Amino acid sequence: MSTDKAFYLTTPIYYVNDAPHIGHAYTTVAGDVLTRWHRQRGEEVWFLTGTDEHGQKVMRTANLNKVSPQDWVDRLVENAWKPNWKSLNIANDDFIRTTEPRHTERVQKFLQSLKDSGHIYAGKYEGPYCVGCEEFKLPGDLIEANGEKLCPIHSKPIELVNENNWFFRLSAFVEPLLKHYKDNPDACQPESARNEVVSFLEGGVSDLSISRSTFDWGIPVPWDTDQVVYVWFDALLNYATAVGLGDDPKSPGGAKFTQTWPADVHLVGKDILRFHAVIWPAMLMAAGLAVPKKVFAHGWLLVGGEKMSKSKLTGIAPSDITDHFGVDAFRYYFLRAIPFGTDGSFSWEDMSARYTSELANDFGNLASRLTAMVEKYCDGVIPAVAKDASLESALGATVSKADSAMCALDFQGGINSIMEFCKRVNGYVTENEPWKLAKDSANQLQLEQVLYNTAESLRALAVLLNPVMPGTCEILWESLGANVTMGPISKQKVSDVSRWGQLPAGSNVTKTAVLFPRLDVSE
Ligand code: MSP
Repeated sequence: MSTDKAFYLTTPIYYVNDAPHIGHAYTTVAGDVLTRWHRQRGEEVWFLTGTDEHGQKVMRTANLNKVSPQDWVDRLVENAWKPNWKSLNIANDDFIRTTEPRHTERVQKFLQSLKDSGHIYAGKYEGPYCVGCEEFKLPGDLIEANGEKLCPIHSKPIELVNENNWFFRLSAFVEPLLKHYKDNPDACQPESARNEVVSFLEGGVSDLSISRSTFDWGIPVPWDTDQVVYVWFDALLNYATAVGLGDDPKSPGGAKFTQTWPADVHLVGKDILRFHAVIWPAMLMAAGLAVPKKVFAHGWLLVGGEKMSKSKLTGIAPSDITDHFGVDAFRYYFLRAIPFGTDGSFSWEDMSARYTSELANDFGNLASRLTAMVEKYCDGVIPAVAKDASLESALGATVSKADSAMCALDFQGGINSIMEFCKRVNGYVTENEPWKLAKDSANQLQLEQVLYNTAESLRALAVLLNPVMPGTCEILWESLGANVTMGPISKQKVSDVSRWGQLPAGSNVTKTAVLFPRLDVSE
């Protein structure tokens, strides 16, 4: 194992009460793109995702389906969640399930240590609870309809909880948290999310009930086994249990923890911001551990103006979209179309329009035109290295813009700058009209220069777009012959992309398969 600190990124662990929808995929794809980008920057990376399997929400779904909670979650994880990430080409390094012993054992150890150090005490909880959110609500959080109190996220009635529970002294961490966000503005992003967290903290925070006694689908509280750990307290710990929380520093788990902790980015939807930016860092502070460097809250995918969700029957399965547009267009579209951090609506029309103009026309056609012309005019072999000063400087500017945008999680800005370069290359081909140059053999040198510059630009585009569309870029890479002459695409470094003239003369080019086929409008 390398001793360098890894860039450690997590997604939320998803409830397995149902199969994934495109809202879940939005977060995980963003995480995958960002970690692939950091890998191509030459960094050590650790990318974690997983499933949140305890709590009433999952237990009740299992009961409704007349199977045990364990059977239910096993079935869903294996048949729905893991295959879904595989089909979206997600390259996570680990997948944690909260029912695994590596998690449950470390959670119990952590809880016991907080109890021993006086951060946990016995108390009584009385108040509203939303099983959809698995959250204790404040009366001010609720909306009222027909005389009933509803959760504003799920539009469903809340339940009243009245139990003797164990409490975590969350209120003791208000001041340290405020100081943390004041000193480290980057620790909660975007700015609107940080403002929300700061004003929430300034409003005062009560201690948190961290156990439940009226059902048993959870991790037993080690010193009071009639109670199970509150599902969020259990779930948040996954980020640390998965990398060896509490293990002897000399053991493999301890070494992993040193290599990864603190996490660099916790990616979350804005619905679960407070858990991650208030409760989670307070738990870590209580244990004397470093807090995450950044919690980034993205917006919601909306349907009819509301958060898309399975429980409201507005969930769209990723396969509904990938069957029509392909996996890479799916990965591209949401990050390209919606500023990360802002809500956005999904529309088939907008997706079709971008697919056709940006992917099929700007990118796909450029690749197929170039490979077809190299076959036709240069016997399928990349001609001598040439240079175009204006393309070269445009590429240099693109790489630095894209790199800073991607590292700041501005996926839209990063992708836009790469696609602007793609447009620029198309303009270069149109201006130079290689098909006209080919009509007179006196122009052969000029023709070859135009084709080299175009191929070299495509070499750069393939590398820059690889984190977003790995399947397509691999095909392009192979058709440029670059896998033979330059090695695997995933090993190409962002910092090296703008060095002009890397695609060697003599690489064997093969005509690309159509990268983005025409959409079948009959569907
Ligand atoms: N299990 C908790 C998270 C625990 S993390 C320690 C949970 N799970 S969830 O299945 O409800 O998934 C929540 C995450 O899925 C959101 O934070 C968000 O990342 C993603 N999304 C779910 N629906 C979404 C939209 N409609 N739009 C965008 N993202 C959405 O909460």
